[in-house]
Amino acid sequence: MTYIPVAQTGELEPGQRKAVDLSGRSVVLTRGDNGYFAFSRYCPHENADLMNGPIVAGKVRCDNHGYCFDLDTGECVLPRGGDPLTVLPVEERGEEICIRLEW
Ligand code: FES
Repeated sequence: MTYIPVAQTGELEPGQRKAVDLSGRSVVLTRGDNGYFAFSRYCPHENADLMNGPIVAGKVRCDNHGYCFDLDTGECVLPRGGDPLTVLPVEERGEEICIRLEW
């Protein structure tokens, strides 16, 4: 298990995002009302950039074709059954926000 620090506690206001490079993988870290989410920056449908995709009720929408992904599970909820988005667990560890990797 590896914890990668990607931000400091308090660095992001609710709704703010931060682009993170995880050993060549582009990830978006965002702070929701009740915690943090980390997800692959590029849509699994046709690789559009999700950095500014609207997030509503724990789901991010891709502006390219409108697919929506649950940020807890990565499941494609619109349309159902689309390829899932990669989501990564985030933990606050002391003063750091960390992405947990099962390496
Ligand atoms: S590229 Fe994201 S929905 Fe098509």
